[in-house]
Order: sequence, then structure tokens, then C-alpha cells
Amino acid sequence: MYAQVIRQDRFGDPRTAFQVEQVDVPAPGADEVLVAVMAAGINYNNVWAARGLPVDVIGLRQRAGEPHDFHIGGSDASGIVYAVGDEVTSVAVGDEVVVHPGCWDPADAWVAAGRDPMLAPSARIWGYDTNFGSFAQFTLAQEHQILPKAPHLTWEEAAASTLVGTTAYRMLHGWAGNELHEGDGVLVWGGSGGVGVQAIQLVRAAGATAVAVVSDDERGRYAVDHGAVGYIDRTEFSHWGVAPHWQDDTRQTAWQKEARAFKRRVRDLLGRDPAIVVEHPGEATLPTSAFVCARGGMVVICAGTTGYSATLDLRHQWVMQKRLQGAHGTNDEQARAYNRLLLERRIDPAVGEVLPFEGIPAAHADMGAGVAVFGNRVALVGAPEPGLGAAS
Ligand SMILES: NC(=O)c1ccc[n+]([C@@H]2O[C@H](COP(=O)([O-])OP(=O)(O)OC[C@H]3O[C@@H](n4cnc5c(N)ncnc54)[C@H](OP(=O)(O)O)[C@@H]3O)[C@@H](O)[C@H]2O)c1
Repeated sequence: MYAQVIRQDRFGDPRTAFQVEQVDVPAPGADEVLVAVMAAGINYNNVWAARGLPVDVIGLRQRAGEPHDFHIGGSDASGIVYAVGDEVTSVAVGDEVVVHPGCWDPADAWVAAGRDPMLAPSARIWGYDTNFGSFAQFTLAQEHQILPKAPHLTWEEAAASTLVGTTAYRMLHGWAGNELHEGDGVLVWGGSGGVGVQAIQLVRAAGATAVAVVSDDERGRYAVDHGAVGYIDRTEFSHWGVAPHWQDDTRQTAWQKEARAFKRRVRDLLGRDPAIVVEHPGEATLPTSAFVCARGGMVVICAGTTGYSATLDLRHQWVMQKRLQGAHGTNDEQARAYNRLLLERRIDPAVGEVLPFEGIPAAHADMGAGVAVFGNRVALVGAPEPGLGAAS
């Protein structure tokens, strides 16, 4: 099969790290499904895979005993089931499907005990931690990852949002004690981006209210069109990055002034402080997220796109009893719940750009350079042109 392949000696700029190569089609194991890929969503995770940072995913797998010296990324797919393993019962050849990105070893004691598999030692993100993701004519996934494709969506729409949407679902609904409730207020960073626009729609679907943070008015309007009640242009503020030390009175005072002004804007738009803050920029924004979050609320974070050395003022954290929660991937229950909303047409997958298969390296390079599109980028793989695959 043809695949966009990353190799260790090409780690670096995604534009050159990915190259089209011919590789053998993998054979499905007993609990695995081979899917003929029609379209593949582009996510930030394979920017990291292409750079070989912060981990070399190929070396990591080889050290764990896997044979392949290459990586085929891609953590979002729509396609048609082509072959199934001996133990597969819920999926048949010919089914039109999408793939969710949470996978794990079913024999893992944590999983076997019925606990959240995304917290198991064997939890992995398909198409990043695992090989044979969706940037190829065929992809391999475990049976439980396979979900029905929403019939009204084209191949590219169906491939666009499962990873970001299921991640946002877990962020908002996955943390007992701080689950999203009807009537809650939520602050969403990057409200016109992949995770952000899905989070906004999920907030609206739950009868709650989202305010988006964006970097210009056009992005703000896009977030509002998808259900945000308002937006804040972050370029009007300048207190981003690591917060000043608490003993540095002058810089602390300046930081507090900006942070308080930002907090007032959030409050004005939401009518209250946010019960949940959907975080992913990380270093640039975490001090502000922690500051604006409501008493007893939660900052839930799935990435550190702007850096990992985030600071937060512990005084607010304990006195206001706020929670800082990491979130990663999805379990089956969360993925099915998100897919149900897609099937019910309550969520727009938010396709921002459709690319040919050959466009995968440049799309990752652009993403890594911060060239944002609205919503999600998708590459056509088996689908010959955009607009196909939707039932009339
Ligand atoms: N752990 C997981 O399971 C998981 C799953 C999905 C995604 N992620 C991660 O989440 C992150 C976001 O993914 P995505 O698909 O939403 O990416 P994306 O579509 O590129 O959107 C990122 C958004 O971040 C905003 N942004 C950029 N620089 C910023 C800054 N300095 N301060 C505040 N906001 C900034 C941008 O909006 P504005 O410029 O308009 O503010 C942009 O819309 C990535 O790092 C990705 O790897 C993690």
C-alpha cells in the first residue's frame, strides 16, 4: 500500500519527515480490523511524531519489541472495513466506519478490572503511539475503536473530528465531581481550532454556555457561529506566559491588573466565573486559566502547545478549591457518546481545509508553525474527490 511514512533519519521539519513509500499491508490480529481509508484527519500529534520530539515514537516501539523501523501516523479516519480478525464480532467487511483514537491491551489488569482504560498502563493513542495509522491506504485498529460513520457526512467530514471531539468530550464529561452541567459557564481556549470548536458545540449540546478565546474577530465570529455566547480577543492582553514570582511586587501587580481585566471580560460574557476551563495552550495561558476558574471549578488540560513550564498561583488554587486535571484521548463510552451526537446531527465536524494525500507533510508543517485553519484539516486518501460518501 502507499503510505505517508516517517523515518528516524528524517525527523525534523514535517515537510520532509513524511515521504510517500510503498509498504506491506498489515494483517489484522485476532481482535483487529483492517480499514480501507477514505479520508484522514490531521492532528497536532503527528507534528510531534515527525519532529521526533518530545519522544521518538519509532524507537520507543522498537524498545518494546515491535519490529518496524518506520511510523505511519494519522489518528482520525473514515473508511470501509476491508478485513477482520478471527475474534471480531461487532464489525463486518463492507461497514462504513470511523475510528476513535483510544487503544489499550485488553489483557491489561487495569482494563480487565473494568476501570477507565485510558488510565491503564497500556493506554495508547492510535496513529501516534501505534503504527499503521490513517495516513495510508489501509489502517489497523482494535475492534472496540470502530464506530459507525454518520451516514449524512461525506468521507472528509466523517474523518475530521473524532480525535478532537472525543478529547473535548472527555475533558467536559469525564471527571467526576466536575462534570459539565446544564447551565454551567465554560471558557474555551482556541475557540476556532480543532479542540475548541468541538468543545463549544459540546457545551451548547449540554445546555451550558461557552465563551471562546481567539486571536481575531473572524475567529471569534466562527466560534459564535458554532455556539459560543461571545469571545475574547487574546491579542488585547499581554500578560501571557510564565507568571511573575509572587515576591516580585512590581511585576505581580502588573500581571494581576491584566489578569483581573481578563477575568472581568469572562464574567461579563458568561454572567459568572467558568466552572470549567478547556485548556491546551499551556505555558502561555495556564496562569490565567487557573486565576479565572470558578471556586470549586476545574481547569482541564490536554496539551501544552506553547510550552510545558506553566505556573499557577497556589493561593487561589487551595483557597478557592480549584482542580487542575489532565485529560488525554478517549475511552469507548466517551467516544460512543460523542459519535451519537454526530449521528444525531447535533455536532458539526467543522472541516476547515481538505487536502490531497500528497498535502499531508505541508499540512503538518503549517500546523506546527501555527498557521491555523478554522476547525480541522482533512486529507483525502481513498476518496477521489471531496463531497463523496454522504447518503442523499
Ligand atoms: N491529549 C489529547 O488527547 C489531545 C487531543 C487533541 C488535541 N490535543 C492537543 O491540543 C492542542 C490543540 O489542538 P487543536 O487540534 O485544537 O489545534 P489547532 O486546531 O491548531 O488549534 C489550536 C488553537 O490554539 C490557539 N492558540 C495558538 N497559540 C495560542 C496562544 N499562544 N495562546 C492561546 N491560544 C493559542 C489558536 O487560536 P487563536 O490563535 O485564535 O487564539 C488555535 O485555534 C494541540 O497541542 C494538540 O496536540 C491533545
